[in-house]
Parts: sequence; structure tokens; C-alpha cells
Amino acid sequence: MTQPVVHLRRGGVSVVVAPTADGPALLHWGADLGPLDDAALDGLVVLRTPGRPHSAYDEPRWVSVLPDAASGFAGRPALEGQRLDGPSLRPAPRDWTWDLAEDDAGSTLTLVGLDAEAGWEVEVVLALTGAGLLRTRTEVTNRGSGPLQLTAAWSALPVGGAATELLDLTGRWCKERSPQRHPFVQGVFERAGRHGRTGHDASLLLVAGTPGFGFGRGEVWGVHTAWSGNHTTYAERTPEGEALVGGGELLEPGEVVLAEGESYAGPWLLASWSDAGLDPMSARLHAWLREQTPRARSERKVLVNTWEAVYFDHDLGRLTELADRAAEVGVERFVLDDGWFRGRRDDTRGLGDWTVDPEVWPQGLHPLIEVVHARGMDFGLWVEPEMVNVDSDLVRAHPDWVLRGRRDLPREWRHQQVLDLQHPAAYAHVRDGLAALLEEYPIAYLKWDHNRDLTDALHDGRPAVHGQTLAFYRLLDELRELHPELEIESCASGGGRVDAEVLRRTDRIWASDTIDAVERQHLQTWTSLLVPPELMGSHLGGPVAHTTGRSLRLGYRAATALFGHFGIEWDLTSIDELDRVAVGQWVHLHRQVRPLLGTGTVVHGDHPDPALVVTGVVSPDRREAWYVVATVAATDTQVPLPVRLPGLDPELTYDLHRVTPTIDQHGMDLGRTWAQGDGARTTGAVLGRAGVRLPVMPPETAQVYVARSPETD
Ligand code: GLA
Repeated sequence: MTQPVVHLRRGGVSVVVAPTADGPALLHWGADLGPLDDAALDGLVVLRTPGRPHSAYDEPRWVSVLPDAASGFAGRPALEGQRLDGPSLRPAPRDWTWDLAEDDAGSTLTLVGLDAEAGWEVEVVLALTGAGLLRTRTEVTNRGSGPLQLTAAWSALPVGGAATELLDLTGRWCKERSPQRHPFVQGVFERAGRHGRTGHDASLLLVAGTPGFGFGRGEVWGVHTAWSGNHTTYAERTPEGEALVGGGELLEPGEVVLAEGESYAGPWLLASWSDAGLDPMSARLHAWLREQTPRARSERKVLVNTWEAVYFDHDLGRLTELADRAAEVGVERFVLDDGWFRGRRDDTRGLGDWTVDPEVWPQGLHPLIEVVHARGMDFGLWVEPEMVNVDSDLVRAHPDWVLRGRRDLPREWRHQQVLDLQHPAAYAHVRDGLAALLEEYPIAYLKWDHNRDLTDALHDGRPAVHGQTLAFYRLLDELRELHPELEIESCASGGGRVDAEVLRRTDRIWASDTIDAVERQHLQTWTSLLVPPELMGSHLGGPVAHTTGRSLRLGYRAATALFGHFGIEWDLTSIDELDRVAVGQWVHLHRQVRPLLGTGTVVHGDHPDPALVVTGVVSPDRREAWYVVATVAATDTQVPLPVRLPGLDPELTYDLHRVTPTIDQHGMDLGRTWAQGDGARTTGAVLGRAGVRLPVMPPETAQVYVARSPETD
């Protein structure tokens, strides 16, 4: 064996890959092991060599980067496929080339393996970013004779033996990304998404960790499958003692069939480790997503979205008034939601006909855009390019462009069907329609929606989700190339398409259709496991949440949206003067914290009282930190137990100020018990480790605090 052991070290993380008889094996992904010379690395390999009990293979059985059956691995294989004519051997690449590339951005190990007998060539990339995020993916090339039907080309990574607990997320419309925790026992725990889109229930992250891990404690290994179609994320513990987390695309038989020489590349698996809880794990993911979203690096424009303000009731006069009110409170972008295109008076018709409705908008959108521009805002527009209503000119002209799994149309979902983007004419139609809109109107921002699952879909007789997902990416890429400055929001009935691959092509996600601030406190906390704040759309809605009927105070609603890409989705023409002033104050406050959002470190409080949610953003130099402390129910104690403000430098001195605008508190004296605390000066150790007693907090209230190191001034 001439290939030396490879040790990648970046951002406080070590990854060790060793050549073994079963292929390259990842022997360590986790804590930085420090500099290791060849002897120490050889020692590591010796000491990590699997034992050989009586009833077992006679040679040590390694788990390679692609666990396979020929090595004796009886768990879930990473590669699966069948040769359609001829013997179908299980892939077992044994002949590997290794290539290590190092640059300022990170270290990349590319492993190419060949199983000449089975005719499989595989490439596994293990890339460690400067921030210590491990990215991996598997590519398969058909080197045999005859077509190769591929059903799995996944990635699997070992986690530390101490990881005995699992956390993943699930959800539904208006309750996306709800956590579930359970012991990491033997067997496979799988989160399979077969919605034809990322899905409201997508696990986002699957985290294995030490018992009781939280945002600021415990050792954790988290993975995210970066894919917007059908996908799996799983954890597996074997009786032999392996613990793996993995993921990849879910392919149906026939969905990917490789001709001789053809390749398939699976989605990236993003893998993040931390020994100080979930927050540092997320920070590595945030750093990566921030590199992918250059358009979102500057301060995000505060927007108004018309959906919950007017729904389908489009009227130039009313929208002009909304634009007036929006500009008065400091809004910088006006987004016209659903209802502007041909025939779209409600959600039963019009999808697919992407020209402006001549009855509602006889002069097109120009008069509205002029109004918007004259008030110093830019203009955004809602589209749902992958969808059609049967009641549309498009489907009347081209019924065969509707994606379906049988002769009859699939059952409708919100009265709509999916356009077959793999059909070249259908693709060209929708691309040209969008390109024409972007050509005619100065559109700075598209809210790109996707309001139904596709669970039974064939293209040319083959399962269609893989191709449809690639076509969606291509469509985004082509439009982006035409309009490099265009910002795009990924929405799918709220948060049904939230993943790192769509975020490589878009600039923010709409986390959920629920703007109810209680729900949002939970939902945004968990969404931030992957998504940094400036990429998460977060709106101030009306006093009664449209999706839940809960009535919530303005200050609570606004504080909940404060650390996101801030927007207003409320009929500002209907509010009184007091509220208008308050909204203006909150927009002003958001603008103060905004410069920090795109670079800051997100922290969460791990408060012992489940009613209290502490969310913070800390500047990279840790001299400034903002916190929203919110209650989602009545606190267990009269005055909240001491709150730790995480993320600060323990050795620096800070002044702590409460900066919650109070004009809208409607007579609630929330500050009485804390008058003496405001402006107090102490150290980061006191604020972050001892914790501080904050004011009494009734249910569904929020306070905003800023800790600044005086040397900042
Ligand atoms: C989806 C989105 C909403 C809104 C409507 C318009 O439900 O999630 O925000 O845009 O579509 O029909």
C-alpha cells in the first residue's frame, strides 16, 4: 500500500482518510487532532483497525467511504444499481487513485475508484472548507457494457461513538422544521422525502450527538442533503459498532439509466461537526451558504409583500396607497404577489400564462412600478414557473405539457398541475415568458413559488423528478445569467423548498406561510440550523395571524422578524397613526442591526424555561451582540430565571442596553422591574456564563437587547 494516510485539517476540524483493503476509509471526522506525522497517522490506523470476533470475516472489515456488500458490510450500501442486460454485480471499487488539492479556500481530496469487473467507476470528493465544513458527494460512471440503472449513489460518514442521540426536523405546511429527538439505536433511521420538492417535512439536518446536546453544549455531527427533489438523509448504527450519517438522492428504478461512459453526480452532503453544541455546527454551514449567496452580502432591502395585505385584489389605487404607507415607514422594496397575470383572479386559474392581465392592469405593470420607483423602492414580482392551472391558455394549447404518471391527469392540489420542464418546448415557453417579463420590466426580485407536490410523474415513461429538478436548476441558472443582479426568493407554499442547493441559485427562502410570531419563534430557531438570518424571509404581519387566528402585539411580531430578511406583510393602509409610528421604529431598529446580520454569528440561549427563547447575533469581532428574548408561553417563574447571553468574549467589557421600541406596548409596563439594569456595564463572562435577570415577561412578549463593548465607540 503506497498511498499514505491523508489528514485534512481546517477550521478546527480534522478528517483522516486511510487506504484499506476495502478502499479508502474515513477513520476520523471531528475534533482537530493537531499536527500528526506519518508515524502518528500509522498508529491511528493500527488503533482504529476493526477487531475480528469468532463469528466474523477472517480479515478486518473496513467501512470504506462507500460502504459495500463485497467488503462484508451488511448495512445500507451507498451504491446500488442494476445492469439491464447482463450480470448485475454489486459494485465494489478496489482500485483507487487519490488526489489532494489544497488552497486558501480549503482542502479537497478526490478519490476515484474502479470496479472493472462490475463496470463501475466512482468518484468521491471530500472537501473541507476553511471554516471546517466537510462537503462530500459521489459520482458514478458506467464503465461496463450495456446500460446501468442507478438507484443509489449516496454518501456516508462515520460519527463518533459518543453520539448516542439523534435530532432531526420534520413538519408540515405552516409548521415547517419541528424538531424530534430520539436515541440513536441500532438499525437505520431514515428521513425519506418523496414530495418531488424538498418538502415541508424535510429533515433539513440530521444531527447525531452526545446525550442532551443543545445549541451551546455537546458534541454533534450534523448532515444536510443539499437537493430540491426526492432525497434521503439517514443515520445507521450497526451491531459491529459503526455509526454513520448519510444521504443522497432517492432514485426510482429507471429514473437514471447510464449509457456506456455516462455519469451521474449525486447531491452534496454538507457535514458539520462541533464540540460546543449546535450553534458552532451551524456557523460552519452559514459560512458556506454565505459564500454561495454573493447578492445577499450587502444589506438586505426591507420589503413589503402584498399577499396578506390584498391577496388577489389587485388595484392600482389601493396598491399605490400601500406603496405610500410602505415608503413612509422605511420600506425599500415592493413585492407584488400572486394575482397579476392573465386570468388570475383567484387560485383556480391562470398559472402558466405569464403575461400581465390586461383587465386589471390595462397599461401593464408600468404605472405601479413608476409609483414604486418614485417612492425610492425597487420592485419585485411573484411567479410560479413550474406550475399550471388546467384553466389556462397554456394547458388549453398544450395539454401534453402537463406532467403526469398515467393517462389521466394527477389529482389536483390547489387546483394546479406541474409543467413538464423536461419537455423542450414547455421549458422554452416558460423560460422565454420569464425572460420577456424581466426584459420589459425593471424587476429586481422574483418570489419563486412551487405550490404542490409531484408524487406520480413520468417523462417519456420514466420517473421524472430527477430530470424535473435539474431542469428547475437550469431555468434559474439561465435567468440568472441573463440578469446577474436579479434576486430570487425560494418559496414553496411557505418553506417547502429550503435546502442548500436551491440556495446556491437563490437569495433567500420564505421560511413558512405562517407569520404567527409564536410559531415563527420555533420555526426560525430550527431553520437557522442551516440558514443564516439574512437568507431567511421574516415578515411583520397583521395583529391577527391569518394562518392561526392568534392575536399578537405589534412589538412581539416585529421583534420576531427583526433578525431575518425583514419584510412587512400587512395592509399598512388600514393601521392607525400609533402603529404606523411603531412600525417605523421597528424598521429603523432593523436597519441598525442589519449590517451585522450578513456576517454575524447566530447564537441561541438554551434557556431552562421552555417558554423563553433567546436568539442572538454577534459581530465577528464579538464587540457587539444583539439579542431578542421572547416568550412563547407563560414563564415558569415570576421573573425569568437568569438568562445567559451567549457568544460574547468572556474577557471583554460590555454595556447592555434594552432597545425595544415601547410605543406599541399598549399600556403594558414591561420595564418597571428592570429599570436599574439598563445600561449596566459588566464582562462577557458575567453576561454569557453567570447570566442576568431580565424583566418580567408576560406570555407572547419580546425584548431586544444590545451588548456593546465600550471600546467599540
Ligand atoms: C404560496 C406562498 C404565499 C403566497 C401564495 C400566493 O402559498 O407561500 O406566500 O405567495 O402562494 O398564491
